[in-house]
Amino acid sequence: MNSDSDLQIAGDILEVPHLLQAPREHPATVAEFVGLARSVAADRAQWEHLVRYDATSRWYHLLRTGPGYEVWLLSWVPGQGSGPHDHGRSSGVLTVLDGELTERTRRGERTLGAGAQRMFAPGFVHEVVNDALEPAVSLHVYFPGLTEMPMHPQSHVRPAGAATMACAAPVPYGPADPVSA
Ligand SMILES: [Fe+2]
Repeated sequence: MNSDSDLQIAGDILEVPHLLQAPREHPATVAEFVGLARSVAADRAQWEHLVRYDATSRWYHLLRTGPGYEVWLLSWVPGQGSGPHDHGRSSGVLTVLDGELTERTRRGERTLGAGAQRMFAPGFVHEVVNDALEPAVSLHVYFPGLTEMPMHPQSHVRPAGAATMACAAPVPYGPADPVSA
């Protein structure tokens, strides 16, 4: 028993299931979407054999769908990038599964290593690039599913005061290519 706490549970907590939230088949909250991404990331057997690396165009695979959400698997060879974009009315969780990705926003850039997660709200503008020397794999949960991905000028991910920023050329994006990052 934790002597630092005044809170104690008398009896067996497993005997009070009526006080616990019923487990849900599908995620419905931000925390649950983040948890879904973490559980997929931790289970390499779910995705590792599916990954392909394509130097000519970015590769992606719809890993799972559920009510109101989609889970995409993406690969990035060195130099590949999304171009600056937002995600329409979708929110999302980006999780790096393998390798390293760089995310650029108006506020600056950050390096995302394996296991890093980024949650973003509708309208959030960023650019994701593999600036590393090794391929990278990422998992993208969108809720609702991604229906549009408006592209933005490079200036939308350039921090204020930055004169220039070296960026990988954006990959062309069209209606048949709904997933970027
Ligand atoms: Fe994105």
